[in-house]
Amino acid sequence: RPDDAFATRLLAWFDISGRHDLPWQHPRSPYRVWLSEIMLQQTQVRVVVPYFERFIAALPDVPALAAAPLDDVLALWSGLGYYARARNLHAAARACVERHDGDLPRDFDALLALPGIGRSTAGAILAQAWGDRFAILDGNVKRVLCRHHGVEGWPGLPKVEKTLWEIAQSQLPSQRLADYTQAQMDFGATLCTRHDPACALCPLQDDCVALATGRVATLPTPKPG
Ligand code: ADE
Ligand code: SF4
Repeated sequence: RPDDAFATRLLAWFDISGRHDLPWQHPRSPYRVWLSEIMLQQTQVRVVVPYFERFIAALPDVPALAAAPLDDVLALWSGLGYYARARNLHAAARACVERHDGDLPRDFDALLALPGIGRSTAGAILAQAWGDRFAILDGNVKRVLCRHHGVEGWPGLPKVEKTLWEIAQSQLPSQRLADYTQAQMDFGATLCTRHDPACALCPLQDDCVALATGRVATLPTPKPG
């Protein structure tokens, strides 16, 4: 199969079975995508949604967030946990006002330079906010790629992670990058799940290495020790 067949099948699945009514999809803006990605880093979608709605109503754009006292930001975050995320968000908004005219930069390295934004989050923002051609690699995506490609080794190992980034990069479609990004997250969260993947319903089953070799239950390889 050509590499783009992976994306084509995933997008067709997404059109029918993906999430299309998340609040950060309507309207989609760089600020809304960024806020959602930070909240979703360690928290599930159903928990994030009401927090996102409250946060965006109180602080609707980067300048509003930058101008708010940190205590207000932490109060809006209260209950979500991992409060370093809120502190970084606030510091990053202030950096955007200083460096980028109060906007989120449409530039990978400039995003990566902001507190709280790593490689996957930068890619997720660029792909979802602007449709730019960047890969993501969070826990869900790592699991799917390890299974579909039969990649052995704990995905936290630098060598394994490098392989997974290369696969993720090689499978990027040339269109619909925002949908493709959401499709990967939804696919990992709802179909190719950690404990009970629905392989019989999977659009990737034809060429899934884990399925063909009886390794669905053992991939991804757990953390050693
Ligand atoms: N995890 C990180 N980003 C996400 C998104 N946009 N949708 C669902 N889960 C996510
Ligand atoms: Fe995941 Fe099963 Fe699909 Fe393979 S066939 S990608 S293990 S759901």
